[in-house]
Amino acid sequence: APMRSLTGKRVIVTAGPTHEPIDPVRYIANRSSGKQGFAIAAALARLGADVRLIAGPVMLPTPAGVTRIDVETAREMAQAVDTALPADAAVMVAAVADWRVDAIAGQKIKKGDAQPALTLTENPDILAELGRSARRPRLLIGFAAETERVIEHAAAKRARKQADWIVANDVSGDVMGGDANTIHLITADGVEHWAKLPKDEVAARLAGKIADALQ
Ligand code: C5P
Repeated sequence: APMRSLTGKRVIVTAGPTHEPIDPVRYIANRSSGKQGFAIAAALARLGADVRLIAGPVMLPTPAGVTRIDVETAREMAQAVDTALPADAAVMVAAVADWRVDAIAGQKIKKGDAQPALTLTENPDILAELGRSARRPRLLIGFAAETERVIEHAAAKRARKQADWIVANDVSGDVMGGDANTIHLITADGVEHWAKLPKDEVAARLAGKIADALQ
């Protein structure tokens, strides 16, 4: 078999959570560790890709050979993705916050002030926007963490966001932040069920499939 290579191919990877500020010292966040996205960026770089890793706030080292762009909010992530285009492929692994605080307080909200009420506004869906963009990468990959009817929900997400592949992650018995993932890969051709694998093996497999698809 020919050597799999991504030399000369640009791949965007989003990873980690986003933080949505409430005031200068507080934010809304989620439990995404960034580990799976960073592992995918590392695996793509090992195959020679020009990787742009757009990372939410995580305490992880930058993988070898990867260009990392740190962001905090969903809107900053959307902007960084736009700046990294054009790309041959994009792997959207980030757990982007669905909502942000409508009016961020300019000063720290003090205890003893009137009890604060947060009004939330929907964030841009970065994957869906890329799916309908004129600059859509040839191979667009989304993730879906599901706790039930995993395949059905992920297939619906694939259609709705116009992704080529959805990497569905069964998180029913699991929480974010672990070191292994149980994956179902949904493509136009159907569904592949992968055994429970360490995140770096999920990453290596996925990177190999991306190299084959961009061949
Ligand atoms: O709709 P849901 O959040 O389950 O979709 C998950 C997929 O969509 C992931 O690939 C995630 O990175 C992407 N996403 C995004 N921007 C959002 C929400 C999700 O890119 N605002």
